Amino acid sequence: MPDLDARARVILGENDRGGFTVPTSGLYPFQWNWDSCFVALGFAAFDEDRAWQEIETLLSSQWADGMVPSIIFHQDDPGYFPGPEIWATGRTPHSTGITQPPVAASCVRLLLEQARDRSAAEHRARALLPKLLASHRWFHEARDPSGSGLVTTIHPWETGMDNSPAWDEAMARMEVAPDLEPYERRDTGHVDASQRPHKSDYDRYMTLVELFRRHGYAHEIEALSPWRVADPCTNFLLLRADRDLAWLAEQFGEPTRQIQIWITRAEAALPRLLHPATGHPHALDLVTGELAPTPTSAGFLSLWAGLGDAATIERLEAWIAPTPYPVASVAIDDRRFESRRYWRGPTWAFANFMIADGLARSGRPDLASRIQTATRTLIERHGFFEYFDPLTGEGCGGDSFSWTAAMWLAWASRDRAGG
Ligand code: DGY
Repeated sequence: MPDLDARARVILGENDRGGFTVPTSGLYPFQWNWDSCFVALGFAAFDEDRAWQEIETLLSSQWADGMVPSIIFHQDDPGYFPGPEIWATGRTPHSTGITQPPVAASCVRLLLEQARDRSAAEHRARALLPKLLASHRWFHEARDPSGSGLVTTIHPWETGMDNSPAWDEAMARMEVAPDLEPYERRDTGHVDASQRPHKSDYDRYMTLVELFRRHGYAHEIEALSPWRVADPCTNFLLLRADRDLAWLAEQFGEPTRQIQIWITRAEAALPRLLHPATGHPHALDLVTGELAPTPTSAGFLSLWAGLGDAATIERLEAWIAPTPYPVASVAIDDRRFESRRYWRGPTWAFANFMIADGLARSGRPDLASRIQTATRTLIERHGFFEYFDPLTGEGCGGDSFSWTAAMWLAWASRDRAGG
């Protein structure tokens, strides 16, 4: 599909702000953490140097304690809320004070494995290794101070799946601050409100931001947050990223003992997320100790983490069977399913990539290529949108979206079904 390849490259070029890429202009006018990692895979299809640069810019914004923020506000933009003046983290460059699911080490490994210029790639990867290690250490220490093997997520924005129904119970029992500063959302000026989270969600998002700001984003917010969840996505991505970090460390003769300890601990703890009736991984509310009742596609990211078994694949087959455009983030027959509302049903190309990659590595390249073909068809018919209605394929959210363009170039349009 040469035309779509060209279009995807144009999107990345237009969203390139010089060393980093915005997810889409208007709605998300800054650098987002996990977006940039997937975007690097797209750049690698035609400009390896630019691919490395995307991750280097992201990691150059790492905090001294190792945290890589969810958003880096390299420049001002009044079109987004909440911007740097609300977060007020006092960091340079300006950033949020929370993180996002860790994929940098996994993307660095993929860049290195696929490099056309291996020695240049080794040089770039080696230089990033200490930063990746520091970010993983931050996750395992600041977000799992008791060494339980599960890391805590303290804000729905950290999961990247802001309004997933997996958070409904934890959100419902959380009180909105009575003195919450009045605010004006900007997202609904760019995208129809029916495709975005509700005001009741935003009130809670902002309550959490104000609390973290009052505590100067110190590590104690892990314990203080009224919203504390063991998110399957974050924990599965961290496990995969730890495995990839260990692989990278081995390439460069660096010790891996600590990383192996993190891996062993996570493998022992992750079964706590499994729903007793179905075996599907669910979000664990760390305040109440209860599993969220609603299963989501985040549970299938166990495949990306190398934990998928025959039962996982069977559940995935049942999940996608009735869906015209898989993989729906919420099962289409779930009572909470909404086909166009952000993380309450839509299909996302980058999530499909991770699930397919896991399937290809679990001996199911046939199912991986089914998901790949479905994603390709979605983009061919409906364009490079942020996410898609799994029933009609209609593009939703932001248009000309960087990670959708990147997933086209790196995976959906290619022969290889995995990463
Ligand atoms: C947003 O603003 O919608 C983002 O998801 C926050 O990271």
